[in-house]
Amino acid sequence: MLTPARAELVIDLAAIRHNVRVLRETAGVPLIAVVKADAYGHGMLPVARAAREAGAEWLAVATLDEVARLRADGDQGRVLTWLTVPDEDYDDAIRAGVDLSAYSVSELEEIQAAAVYAGAPARVQLKVDTGLHRGGAPRDAWLDLFARARLGEREGHWTIPGLWSHFAASDEPDHPSNDLQEAAFREACALADDAGLRPEIRHLANSAATLLRPSSRFDAVSCGIACYGLDPAPDVAHGTDLRPAMTARATLGMVKHLQPGDAVSYGWRWAAEEATTVGLVPVGYGEGVPRMAGDPGPPGAVAEVGVAGRRRPIAGRVCMDQFMVDLGGTTPPEGSEVVLFGPPAPEGSDDEYPTAQEWAEACATISYEIVTRIGGRMRRRYVDSEADSVTGTATGADTTSVPASAVGEVAS
Ligand SMILES: Cc1ncc(COP(=O)(O)O)c(C=O)c1O
Repeated sequence: MLTPARAELVIDLAAIRHNVRVLRETAGVPLIAVVKADAYGHGMLPVARAAREAGAEWLAVATLDEVARLRADGDQGRVLTWLTVPDEDYDDAIRAGVDLSAYSVSELEEIQAAAVYAGAPARVQLKVDTGLHRGGAPRDAWLDLFARARLGEREGHWTIPGLWSHFAASDEPDHPSNDLQEAAFREACALADDAGLRPEIRHLANSAATLLRPSSRFDAVSCGIACYGLDPAPDVAHGTDLRPAMTARATLGMVKHLQPGDAVSYGWRWAAEEATTVGLVPVGYGEGVPRMAGDPGPPGAVAEVGVAGRRRPIAGRVCMDQFMVDLGGTTPPEGSEVVLFGPPAPEGSDDEYPTAQEWAEACATISYEIVTRIGGRMRRRYVDSEADSVTGTATGADTTSVPASAVGEVAS
């Protein structure tokens, strides 16, 4: 008999493929699927394979460790990395044909030494800061960076396949930074051209800009959150058909009756106003459930979960391993399904499931943080709802089930 998991993340790879296809069609230029931070909590390797299958020309990750995992998994395609610090070990990435990012002349010097040592030319994308003021070359360093990049290219130390930057507020289309950053990026492209550089891809747009700002699409777009089916700009209508890929679910533990005034969980911050019932959900901040999800705090609301298809608010503080849910006097059987968040229930169903976006609002954060931090002791199970519709099974074809915290997870 298949035992239902105590707590798991169910990832629909068909949703990932669908979102990648939609984003490629919308953008009309090559897609860089951003799979850093374990694919925003969805599991990097299975997601990377699904994104490639759906046509993603590029993948992007932040660190060299992440790219090493992709290559060890057999991914031989174009991959961009962008976050290194002095004294990083670039050799393997250079031999593996990975695109490094350089923000400064000193980084180029390090990459040159590594390329000489590796005996192979590096691939280097130059990142310019157009106003986010995070990584990337500041405006007054662009000319030196471009000149040094061109010199190293002529000397055979590297090629410069890309030039890129990143938006600060593309989820707010009217924010003045968007026009300023796009104009600055155009200037960087012109100056790089003047310096003799001919990057194959100049890219600026993240998910929100891809959907909301066509002029920023240049030669490629880098989409993270939209690949996972979450809305990068939930307050702005864009009509793009994205499908959330992650369902966080658990099995309901103990159900108990409370009397009026009975308080629940640490600090007694929640108390029953009348005789009611509560149920135990066996996940907590050890699984990355935000403690704030059970605190009415500044957003004025607590997160809800779907218990046997009905929405129920969290009762009291989220603990390390568990939280309680207000069952409002009902007594669903222990062992019932609890959906923390996931895609909306299918049309025609009476079930009600909260979304990651709703959790984000209850926790005063963004859906990115909700999906990226959830995991820990929960298991990840991969299903394929397209294969599902072929086989007609209710739960989808499992490809693997591993603890979310496992590094280098196996799949399909
Ligand atoms: C440099 C960079 N590019 C692209 C992305 C993808 O952004 P999004 O998930 O909003 O598409 C990120 C995400 O943080 C990023 O840091």
